[in-house]
Amino acid sequence: MNVLVTGGAGYIGSVCVEELLGAGHAVTVLDNLSEGHRAAVDARANFVHGDLADRELVQRAVRAAKTEAVIHFAAHALVGESMTNPGKYFRNNVASGLNLLDAAVEAGVKKFVFSSTCATYGVPERVPMTEDLPQRPVNPYGESKLMFEKLLRWYEELHGLEFVAFRYFNAAGASEKFGEHHRVETHLIPNVLRVALGQKPHCEIFGTDYPTPDGTCIRDYIHIADLAQAHILALAPGRRGFFNLGNGAGYSVREVVAACEKISGQKISALERPRRPGDPPRLVAAAAKAARELGWRPKFPKLEDIVATAWAWHRRHPQGYAD
Ligand code: UFG
Repeated sequence: MNVLVTGGAGYIGSVCVEELLGAGHAVTVLDNLSEGHRAAVDARANFVHGDLADRELVQRAVRAAKTEAVIHFAAHALVGESMTNPGKYFRNNVASGLNLLDAAVEAGVKKFVFSSTCATYGVPERVPMTEDLPQRPVNPYGESKLMFEKLLRWYEELHGLEFVAFRYFNAAGASEKFGEHHRVETHLIPNVLRVALGQKPHCEIFGTDYPTPDGTCIRDYIHIADLAQAHILALAPGRRGFFNLGNGAGYSVREVVAACEKISGQKISALERPRRPGDPPRLVAAAAKAARELGWRPKFPKLEDIVATAWAWHRRHPQGYAD
Protein backbone atom coordinates (compact mmCIF):
# COMPACT_ATOMS: atom_id res chain seq x y z
CA MET A 1 0.00 0.00 0.00
CA ASN A 2 0.97 3.66 -0.32
CA VAL A 3 1.25 4.76 3.29
CA LEU A 4 1.67 8.34 4.53
CA VAL A 5 3.30 8.36 7.97
CA THR A 6 3.15 11.57 9.99
CA GLY A 7 5.81 11.76 12.67
CA GLY A 8 7.87 9.19 10.79
CA ALA A 9 11.07 10.92 11.93
CA GLY A 10 10.13 10.41 15.59
CA TYR A 11 10.94 7.58 17.96
CA ILE A 12 8.07 5.17 17.32
CA GLY A 13 7.41 6.41 13.78
CA SER A 14 10.97 5.75 12.61
CA VAL A 15 10.77 2.06 13.45
CA CYS A 16 7.27 1.72 12.06
CA VAL A 17 8.50 3.18 8.75
CA GLU A 18 11.39 0.71 8.71
CA GLU A 19 8.99 -2.21 9.30
CA LEU A 20 6.47 -0.96 6.72
CA LEU A 21 9.19 -0.75 4.08
CA GLY A 22 10.41 -4.22 5.07
CA ALA A 23 6.86 -5.51 4.57
CA GLY A 24 6.79 -4.09 1.02
CA HIS A 25 4.76 -0.91 1.53
CA ALA A 26 5.65 2.41 -0.15
CA VAL A 27 6.14 5.08 2.51
CA THR A 28 6.04 8.87 2.54
CA VAL A 29 7.02 10.51 5.82
CA LEU A 30 5.52 13.88 6.72
CA ASP A 31 7.29 15.46 9.71
CA ASN A 32 8.09 18.99 10.88
CA LEU A 33 11.28 17.75 12.64
CA SER A 34 10.31 19.61 15.81
CA GLU A 35 10.94 16.44 17.81
CA GLY A 36 12.02 14.03 15.09
CA HIS A 37 15.35 13.75 13.31
CA ARG A 38 16.02 13.67 9.59
CA ALA A 39 18.57 10.89 10.20
CA ALA A 40 15.80 8.78 11.75
CA VAL A 41 13.94 8.57 8.43
CA ASP A 42 14.70 5.35 6.59
CA ALA A 43 16.55 6.18 3.36
CA ARG A 44 14.01 4.15 1.34
CA ALA A 45 11.11 6.44 2.32
CA ASN A 46 10.08 9.71 0.65
CA PHE A 47 10.34 12.64 2.99
CA VAL A 48 8.17 15.76 3.14
CA HIS A 49 9.22 18.44 5.62
CA GLY A 50 6.08 20.17 6.79
CA ASP A 51 3.71 20.94 9.60
CA LEU A 52 0.19 19.57 10.01
CA ALA A 53 -0.96 23.12 10.75
CA ASP A 54 -0.35 23.91 7.06
CA ARG A 55 -3.60 22.68 5.57
CA GLU A 56 -2.61 23.07 1.93
CA LEU A 57 0.74 21.40 2.39
CA VAL A 58 -1.00 18.48 4.09
CA GLN A 59 -3.52 18.17 1.24
CA ARG A 60 -0.72 18.26 -1.35
CA ALA A 61 1.34 15.67 0.52
CA VAL A 62 -1.59 13.26 0.89
CA ARG A 63 -2.46 13.59 -2.81
CA ALA A 64 1.10 13.46 -4.14
CA ALA A 65 1.77 10.22 -2.26
CA LYS A 66 -1.37 8.65 -3.79
CA THR A 67 -2.10 7.78 -0.19
CA GLU A 68 -4.16 4.66 0.52
CA ALA A 69 -3.50 4.59 4.28
CA VAL A 70 -2.44 7.22 6.80
CA ILE A 71 -0.55 6.33 9.97
CA HIS A 72 -0.66 9.33 12.27
CA PHE A 73 2.10 9.45 14.90
CA ALA A 74 2.88 13.17 14.85
CA ALA A 75 1.95 14.72 18.19
CA HIS A 76 3.30 16.37 21.27
CA ALA A 77 3.52 13.66 23.91
CA LEU A 78 4.84 14.93 27.22
CA VAL A 79 2.37 14.66 30.06
CA GLY A 80 4.19 17.17 32.27
CA GLU A 81 4.52 19.81 29.54
CA SER A 82 0.82 19.47 28.73
CA MET A 83 0.00 20.51 32.30
CA THR A 84 1.85 23.82 31.87
CA ASN A 85 1.08 24.48 28.18
CA PRO A 86 -2.27 22.85 27.37
CA GLY A 87 -2.91 25.06 24.33
CA LYS A 88 0.12 23.59 22.56
CA TYR A 89 -1.39 20.12 22.97
CA PHE A 90 -4.92 20.93 21.83
CA ARG A 91 -3.67 23.00 18.89
CA ASN A 92 -1.22 20.46 17.54
CA ASN A 93 -2.78 17.15 18.54
CA VAL A 94 -6.38 18.09 17.77
CA ALA A 95 -6.67 21.14 15.48
CA SER A 96 -3.69 20.34 13.22
CA GLY A 97 -4.65 16.68 13.17
CA LEU A 98 -8.03 17.72 11.80
CA ASN A 99 -6.28 19.04 8.66
CA LEU A 100 -4.91 15.56 8.13
CA LEU A 101 -8.30 13.91 8.64
CA ASP A 102 -9.94 16.26 6.13
CA ALA A 103 -7.17 15.70 3.60
CA ALA A 104 -7.55 11.92 4.03
CA VAL A 105 -11.30 12.11 3.37
CA GLU A 106 -10.82 14.38 0.34
CA ALA A 107 -8.23 12.03 -1.15
CA GLY A 108 -10.38 8.92 -0.59
CA VAL A 109 -7.92 7.32 1.85
CA LYS A 110 -9.03 3.81 2.84
CA LYS A 111 -7.57 3.50 6.33
CA PHE A 112 -6.49 5.84 9.13
CA VAL A 113 -4.31 4.45 11.94
CA PHE A 114 -3.92 6.66 14.98
CA SER A 115 -1.44 6.67 17.88
CA SER A 116 -3.53 7.05 20.99
CA THR A 117 -2.43 6.33 24.53
CA CYS A 118 -3.34 4.67 27.79
CA ALA A 119 -3.24 8.23 29.16
CA THR A 120 -6.80 8.55 27.78
CA TYR A 121 -7.97 6.36 30.71
CA GLY A 122 -6.53 8.58 33.44
CA VAL A 123 -6.28 6.70 36.73
CA PRO A 124 -7.80 3.35 35.79
CA GLU A 125 -10.62 1.74 37.72
CA ARG A 126 -8.80 -1.58 37.53
CA VAL A 127 -5.74 -3.25 36.04
CA PRO A 128 -5.07 -4.99 33.72
CA MET A 129 -6.93 -2.39 31.67
CA THR A 130 -9.38 -3.39 28.96
CA GLU A 131 -10.56 -1.08 26.18
CA ASP A 132 -14.01 -0.63 27.71
CA LEU A 133 -12.79 1.12 30.88
CA PRO A 134 -14.06 4.69 31.33
CA GLN A 135 -11.79 7.29 29.73
CA ARG A 136 -11.19 10.13 32.17
CA PRO A 137 -7.85 11.73 31.30
CA VAL A 138 -6.01 13.53 34.09
CA ASN A 139 -3.87 15.73 31.83
CA PRO A 140 -4.35 17.75 28.59
CA TYR A 141 -2.11 15.32 26.69
CA GLY A 142 -4.47 12.41 27.39
CA GLU A 143 -7.48 14.66 26.78
CA SER A 144 -6.12 15.76 23.38
CA LYS A 145 -5.71 12.14 22.31
CA LEU A 146 -9.21 11.27 23.53
CA MET A 147 -10.62 14.23 21.58
CA PHE A 148 -8.98 12.91 18.44
CA GLU A 149 -10.40 9.43 19.10
CA LYS A 150 -13.84 11.07 19.15
CA LEU A 151 -13.18 12.83 15.85
CA LEU A 152 -12.28 9.47 14.35
CA ARG A 153 -15.62 7.97 15.41
CA TRP A 154 -17.48 10.78 13.66
CA TYR A 155 -15.33 10.69 10.54
CA GLU A 156 -15.92 6.98 10.22
CA GLU A 157 -19.66 7.30 10.76
CA LEU A 158 -20.15 10.31 8.50
CA HIS A 159 -17.39 9.95 5.90
CA GLY A 160 -16.79 6.20 5.97
CA LEU A 161 -13.13 6.66 6.92
CA GLU A 162 -12.17 3.31 8.47
CA PHE A 163 -9.84 3.76 11.45
CA VAL A 164 -7.80 1.88 14.02
CA ALA A 165 -6.72 3.73 17.17
CA PHE A 166 -3.99 2.13 19.25
CA ARG A 167 -3.71 3.00 22.91
CA TYR A 168 -0.01 2.51 23.57
CA PHE A 169 1.33 1.72 26.99
CA ASN A 170 5.03 2.59 27.55
CA ALA A 171 6.94 2.46 24.28
CA ALA A 172 10.54 1.30 24.74
CA GLY A 173 13.46 -0.42 23.01
CA ALA A 174 15.09 0.16 19.63
CA SER A 175 15.75 -1.48 16.30
CA GLU A 176 19.33 -1.86 15.09
CA LYS A 177 19.18 1.41 13.21
CA PHE A 178 16.62 3.55 15.01
CA GLY A 179 16.17 4.36 18.68
CA GLU A 180 15.08 6.87 21.29
CA HIS A 181 16.49 10.38 21.08
CA HIS A 182 14.32 13.11 22.52
CA ARG A 183 15.92 16.56 22.66
CA VAL A 184 14.75 16.85 26.24
CA GLU A 185 14.65 13.35 27.67
CA THR A 186 12.06 12.71 30.37
CA HIS A 187 11.49 8.97 29.88
CA LEU A 188 12.69 6.43 32.39
CA ILE A 189 14.68 3.88 30.38
CA PRO A 190 16.87 6.28 28.36
CA ASN A 191 17.57 8.32 31.49
CA VAL A 192 18.63 5.23 33.43
CA LEU A 193 20.82 4.00 30.55
CA ARG A 194 22.60 7.36 30.43
CA VAL A 195 23.96 6.57 33.87
CA ALA A 196 25.24 3.21 32.60
CA LEU A 197 26.89 5.06 29.69
CA GLY A 198 28.67 7.34 32.15
CA GLN A 199 26.84 10.42 30.90
CA LYS A 200 25.12 11.13 34.22
CA PRO A 201 26.14 10.34 37.79
CA HIS A 202 22.74 9.04 38.83
CA CYS A 203 19.16 8.60 37.73
CA GLU A 204 16.07 9.69 39.65
CA ILE A 205 13.15 7.71 41.01
CA PHE A 206 10.03 9.86 41.16
CA GLY A 207 7.98 8.71 44.13
CA THR A 208 8.70 5.83 46.49
CA ASP A 209 5.46 5.94 48.50
CA TYR A 210 2.96 4.65 45.91
CA PRO A 211 0.60 1.81 46.89
CA THR A 212 2.70 -0.74 44.99
CA PRO A 213 4.90 -3.57 46.37
CA ASP A 214 8.15 -1.53 46.28
CA GLY A 215 6.53 1.91 46.48
CA THR A 216 7.41 2.97 42.89
CA CYS A 217 5.14 3.33 39.85
CA ILE A 218 4.34 0.32 37.71
CA ARG A 219 4.23 0.51 33.92
CA ASP A 220 3.76 -1.89 31.02
CA TYR A 221 6.73 -1.54 28.63
CA ILE A 222 6.16 -2.50 25.01
CA HIS A 223 8.80 -2.76 22.30
CA ILE A 224 8.44 -0.28 19.44
CA ALA A 225 8.96 -3.04 16.84
CA ASP A 226 5.91 -4.78 18.35
CA LEU A 227 3.96 -1.53 18.17
CA ALA A 228 5.02 -1.26 14.53
CA GLN A 229 3.76 -4.77 13.76
CA ALA A 230 0.34 -3.90 15.13
CA HIS A 231 0.17 -0.96 12.70
CA ILE A 232 0.97 -3.20 9.77
CA LEU A 233 -1.74 -5.67 10.82
CA ALA A 234 -4.19 -2.77 11.12
CA LEU A 235 -3.82 -1.91 7.44
CA ALA A 236 -5.79 -4.97 6.34
CA PRO A 237 -9.32 -4.06 5.20
CA GLY A 238 -12.06 -4.49 7.78
CA ARG A 239 -9.79 -4.11 10.79
CA ARG A 240 -11.12 -1.27 12.85
CA GLY A 241 -11.67 0.06 16.37
CA PHE A 242 -9.71 0.77 19.53
CA PHE A 243 -6.95 -1.47 20.83
CA ASN A 244 -4.63 -1.42 23.83
CA LEU A 245 -1.04 -2.30 23.02
CA GLY A 246 1.04 -3.54 25.93
CA ASN A 247 2.59 -6.79 27.15
CA GLY A 248 0.20 -7.21 30.06
CA ALA A 249 3.10 -7.27 32.54
CA GLY A 250 3.84 -4.44 34.95
CA TYR A 251 7.33 -3.44 36.10
CA SER A 252 8.12 -0.94 38.82
CA VAL A 253 10.63 1.88 38.39
CA ARG A 254 13.03 0.00 40.69
CA GLU A 255 12.64 -3.14 38.57
CA VAL A 256 13.47 -1.12 35.45
CA VAL A 257 16.63 0.23 37.10
CA ALA A 258 17.60 -3.33 38.10
CA ALA A 259 17.01 -4.62 34.56
CA CYS A 260 19.20 -1.81 33.17
CA GLU A 261 21.95 -2.73 35.65
CA LYS A 262 21.79 -6.36 34.64
CA ILE A 263 21.82 -5.73 30.88
CA SER A 264 24.55 -3.05 30.99
CA GLY A 265 26.66 -4.75 33.66
CA GLN A 266 27.03 -1.35 35.33
CA LYS A 267 26.04 -0.25 38.82
CA ILE A 268 23.40 2.47 38.42
CA SER A 269 23.03 4.95 41.25
CA ALA A 270 19.48 6.20 41.81
CA LEU A 271 18.27 9.15 43.88
CA GLU A 272 14.83 8.98 45.45
CA ARG A 273 12.75 12.04 44.60
CA PRO A 274 9.19 13.19 45.37
CA ARG A 275 6.33 12.03 43.15
CA ARG A 276 6.03 13.57 39.68
CA PRO A 277 2.61 15.26 39.30
CA GLY A 278 0.10 13.38 37.18
CA ASP A 279 1.66 9.90 37.40
CA PRO A 280 -0.91 7.13 38.00
CA PRO A 281 0.53 4.43 40.30
CA ARG A 282 -0.09 1.48 38.01
CA LEU A 283 -0.82 1.17 34.28
CA VAL A 284 -0.93 -2.32 32.80
CA ALA A 285 -2.64 -3.34 29.58
CA ALA A 286 -5.00 -6.16 28.84
CA ALA A 287 -4.20 -6.55 25.14
CA ALA A 288 -6.24 -9.66 24.41
CA LYS A 289 -8.39 -7.76 21.92
CA ALA A 290 -5.40 -6.96 19.66
CA ALA A 291 -4.30 -10.60 19.85
CA ARG A 292 -7.78 -11.88 19.07
CA GLU A 293 -8.89 -9.45 16.35
CA LEU A 294 -5.58 -8.50 14.74
CA GLY A 295 -3.51 -11.62 15.41
CA TRP A 296 -0.93 -9.44 17.20
CA ARG A 297 1.84 -11.35 19.00
CA PRO A 298 4.58 -9.27 20.65
CA LYS A 299 8.09 -10.60 20.00
CA PHE A 300 9.57 -8.88 23.06
CA PRO A 301 7.38 -9.82 26.01
CA LYS A 302 10.25 -9.58 28.53
CA LEU A 303 11.49 -6.27 29.93
CA GLU A 304 15.14 -7.37 29.86
CA ASP A 305 14.97 -8.15 26.15
CA ILE A 306 13.43 -4.74 25.48
CA VAL A 307 16.11 -3.00 27.56
CA ALA A 308 18.84 -4.99 25.75
CA THR A 309 17.78 -3.52 22.39
CA ALA A 310 17.72 0.00 23.86
CA TRP A 311 21.15 -0.51 25.45
CA ALA A 312 22.65 -1.77 22.18
CA TRP A 313 21.34 1.31 20.34
CA HIS A 314 22.48 3.82 22.95
CA ARG A 315 25.96 2.25 23.01
CA ARG A 316 26.21 2.64 19.25
CA HIS A 317 24.72 6.15 19.32
CA PRO A 318 25.85 7.68 22.63
CA GLN A 319 24.83 11.15 21.41
CA GLY A 320 21.68 9.89 19.65
CA TYR A 321 21.21 11.17 16.11
CA ALA A 322 24.08 13.56 15.51
CA ASP A 323 21.90 16.52 14.51
N1 UFG B 1 10.31 8.04 36.09
C1 UFG B 1 11.28 8.10 37.06
N2 UFG B 1 12.46 8.72 36.76
C2 UFG B 1 12.70 9.28 35.52
C3 UFG B 1 11.68 9.19 34.54
C4 UFG B 1 10.49 8.58 34.87
O1 UFG B 1 11.12 7.62 38.18
O2 UFG B 1 13.79 9.82 35.31
C5 UFG B 1 9.07 7.31 36.41
C6 UFG B 1 7.82 8.12 36.16
O3 UFG B 1 7.50 8.88 37.28
C7 UFG B 1 6.83 7.02 35.83
C8 UFG B 1 7.68 5.95 35.14
O4 UFG B 1 9.01 6.22 35.52
O5 UFG B 1 6.31 6.50 37.00
C9 UFG B 1 7.59 5.99 33.64
O6 UFG B 1 7.82 7.33 33.21
P1 UFG B 1 8.03 7.75 31.69
O7 UFG B 1 8.24 9.23 31.70
O8 UFG B 1 9.08 6.89 31.08
O9 UFG B 1 6.67 7.36 31.00
P2 UFG B 1 5.18 7.78 31.40
O10 UFG B 1 4.52 6.55 31.92
O11 UFG B 1 5.10 8.98 32.24
O12 UFG B 1 4.62 8.30 29.99
C10 UFG B 1 4.69 7.51 28.85
C11 UFG B 1 4.67 8.41 27.60
C12 UFG B 1 3.35 9.10 27.47
C13 UFG B 1 2.23 8.13 27.57
C14 UFG B 1 2.36 7.35 28.83
C15 UFG B 1 1.29 6.33 28.99
O13 UFG B 1 5.68 9.37 27.69
O14 UFG B 1 3.31 9.73 26.22
O15 UFG B 1 3.61 6.67 28.83
O16 UFG B 1 1.52 5.66 30.19
F1 UFG B 1 1.05 8.76 27.58
